[in-house]
Amino acid sequence: MDSFAKTVFSAIQPSGTITIGNYFGAIKNWVELQNKHNCIFALADLHTITVMQDPAKLKRNTLEAYALLLACGINVEKSLFFIQSHVNTHAQLSWILDCYTQFGELSRMTQFKDKSKKHVDNINCGLFSYPVLMVADILLYQADMVPIGLDQKQHLELTRTVAERFNFLYGETFKVPEAYIPKNGARIMSLQDPCKKMSKSDENLNSWVAILDSSDNIIKKFKRAVTDSESCVRYDESKPGISNLITIYSCATGKSFDEIEKEFDGVGYGIFKEAIGECIAENLSAVQHRFSEFIQDKSYLEKCYKESAERALCLSDKTLKNVIEKIGFVK
Ligand code: TYM
Repeated sequence: MDSFAKTVFSAIQPSGTITIGNYFGAIKNWVELQNKHNCIFALADLHTITVMQDPAKLKRNTLEAYALLLACGINVEKSLFFIQSHVNTHAQLSWILDCYTQFGELSRMTQFKDKSKKHVDNINCGLFSYPVLMVADILLYQADMVPIGLDQKQHLELTRTVAERFNFLYGETFKVPEAYIPKNGARIMSLQDPCKKMSKSDENLNSWVAILDSSDNIIKKFKRAVTDSESCVRYDESKPGISNLITIYSCATGKSFDEIEKEFDGVGYGIFKEAIGECIAENLSAVQHRFSEFIQDKSYLEKCYKESAERALCLSDKTLKNVIEKIGFVK
């Protein structure tokens, strides 16, 4: 680690399927950042219960998500990678910071508005204050940088606001973090409605591609991707379907949009869709293979998440103790 190494924090909810949106928007960047920076990653299981979860499924999803992220390249020799509910400081700081966050600020969060429309029978307080838990996750580690997709940007802005407010009231306590949003892949769109974000909660199974989808399924989903009536492979914001496919192909291959347009010059959408399906299937098959090994070794997984949680507790407790002191709680 050189002296330019920064502290990086990010997390993902283990609430089922992990998609190529999560992969290109976040996980792939986490893996790259590990080589230069001090990285801390978590499975945000506390966040998942803001919507109803089946207990057995939540447990299985959490272990699978842990194994899958290791398979994607998260390396516990380089980074901390723990399960959020194992580190008590997150819930503790979250409560404290609830008291420094305004009702109006949380009411404006677009994810809260969207999710409360979707889960009308369970608009619980956790769903409302969810962004504050995310603020606590980040501030506990004095993170400099938070690699996220575009949909989390508003939560990161809230994090900065709350950190600055607390620092103003009590003196320098929290580092004010920066969002790290990739130029390419920050918002991977649905394959069926390219004006909507790709999301695992979309009921149309053809709209998203999971990292663990079979090769046949991946190829089929790309073949069915909705595009427009033209057939020239060209990036153009007024053609969201083909532009989304070009973005995905660019994320997977590292090729620029120009290079991709040249590569598929004169061929129709059909050939391009086939090529991208095959490319993604091939990219993911190595991850899938590693996943099948990790998921069988539960004791290795347990060793990794326990060790990381212990170290995360030590680090985060320093921040929490400082906060407690500043607020005036008796120690
Ligand atoms: P989550 O679990 O919804 O998503 C994990 C990461 O994947 C990104 N992402 C996408 N990127 C591009 N295109 C898409 N279609 C797409 N869908 C998802 C998300 O932006 C995110 O970076 N609240 C967070 C988890 C969290 C967190 C944190 C993140 C909890 N605490 C602290 C950062 C820092 C969430 O629900 O992400």
